[in-house]
Amino acid sequence: MSRIFLVGFMGSGKSSVGRRLARRLSMPFVDTDAEIEAAESRRVAEIFSADGEERFRALESEALRTAASGPDAVVACGGGAVLSPENRQVLESAGRVVYLRVGAEEALSRMRDTVSRPLLAGDAHAAAERLLSSREHLYEQVADVTVDTAGRTVAEVAEAVADALGATAARGGAA
Ligand code: S3P
Repeated sequence: MSRIFLVGFMGSGKSSVGRRLARRLSMPFVDTDAEIEAAESRRVAEIFSADGEERFRALESEALRTAASGPDAVVACGGGAVLSPENRQVLESAGRVVYLRVGAEEALSRMRDTVSRPLLAGDAHAAAERLLSSREHLYEQVADVTVDTAGRTVAEVAEAVADALGATAARGGAA
């Protein structure tokens, strides 16, 4: 199975579902946020506060390009990875893209804290609603398959993703 990119909003379960899916498919797992933090030896929130979002986005694009040219893997992308047209091009050309759909309320309820997510600082509910509605069409645009995560466990979502990918492969490739 070729590279699998998981996209979706913060709290959609990209990292936890990705880890589980990778285990199920015996593939390596890559998390672009974790790659950035390891390379920079600091947390995402620190990069935002010290150097700004633009710098973070440049590091994110670099991490995505690296994952896209590396071995087949399940790749959890940051929630904003779809914002750049270049990143969308990389996603579309380097593997299959799965959109894990979640509503703003459920996304927030799944996050242990919003402190580590600088874009949700202040009124997290308002920010989540605004960001999600401005991005939904981009997640849909890059997705080969969309999996609804509402009310489902990590295991259930991972299973649904594997099924959906199997179904597309059986039809002869990405839809
Ligand atoms: C962001 C999502 C975060 C992280 C950064 C920006 C976003 O990743 O990349 O805080 O713009 O949606 P997760 O989606 O893994 O939380």
